[in-house]
Amino acid sequence: MTDDPSAPHGHIDTEIEGSTCWITFNNPAKMNALNTAMWSALPGIIEATQHNDSVRVVILRGSGAKAFSAGADISEFGSARTGKAAQDYDELNHAAFNAVMECSKPTIAMIEGYCMGGGLELALCCDLRYAATGSNFAIPAAKLGIGYNPRWIRPLFSALNATQAKEILFTGRRFSGEEACAMGMITRLMPPDTLVSETRELARLIADNAPLSVYAAKRCIDEFLRAPENPDMKTLDEIVQACFDSEDYAEGRAAFAEKRKPVFRGK
Ligand code: COA
Repeated sequence: MTDDPSAPHGHIDTEIEGSTCWITFNNPAKMNALNTAMWSALPGIIEATQHNDSVRVVILRGSGAKAFSAGADISEFGSARTGKAAQDYDELNHAAFNAVMECSKPTIAMIEGYCMGGGLELALCCDLRYAATGSNFAIPAAKLGIGYNPRWIRPLFSALNATQAKEILFTGRRFSGEEACAMGMITRLMPPDTLVSETRELARLIADNAPLSVYAAKRCIDEFLRAPENPDMKTLDEIVQACFDSEDYAEGRAAFAEKRKPVFRGK
């Protein structure tokens, strides 16, 4: 596996569709593996969604049906992930994982095909995961001799228990969509031909709700994962109070009384 200069370079596409931002890993010749440029680009792309008030949900997906992403581009490892460079490479990965994990908007991974290594980690950094039957999951770090960065354990624990995380990391083996669903790694499993419509519907359901309420739920749950024994209750209480002080709360009550659908503005 060497870099072919004539091969198309991988990149990340973004598309805004109504209140949803679709982020697509586009490197089909390498099962949508993320190269250095793609890892570097992701935090800025996520940041842009945070500043776009029209975006209420962010969806990560892979280009085509073969892979969400087969992880980091292994062909770059010889130069970019050995010796001192390995630490820089991990930092790059970590910045991307962190950006997804810290995204203020709800995030969904829409998974079809292979979802491996850093690809699975990115999916686990999302809030929710919808996957098509036939998808395949693995973190093969131990098969490559890679030390799994301790900072990447928390996303595993958002969806898995310690025993499941250990099995995944110890064996590096592949898990089917059915197994992944049974262990809670993915939120829902469905036939490939309904994946896009079901994911769109999930995004619509979330986007129709009051953004401040959704944000409060996300921040509270994530904070209890981040610091279970010492959560920042002051900040969480402020975030929840902001919901009660919002125009959207007044709109929610008015819409209920008037028997109409509320129109929330995130204010
Ligand atoms: N980095 C770079 N290239 C990758 C890649 C990766 N992570 N995953 C797949 N590719 C490339 C393959 O080298 C192959 O390229 P080639 O056609 O030039 O030989 C192409 O994508 C298709 O992959 P291939 O292995 O032929 O398809 P497959 O269906 O037999 O197997 C996988 C698919 C995903 C199971 C297999 O490619 C694989 O195990 N990839 C590595 C996954 C991994 O270890 N990721 C963690 C990285 S830390």
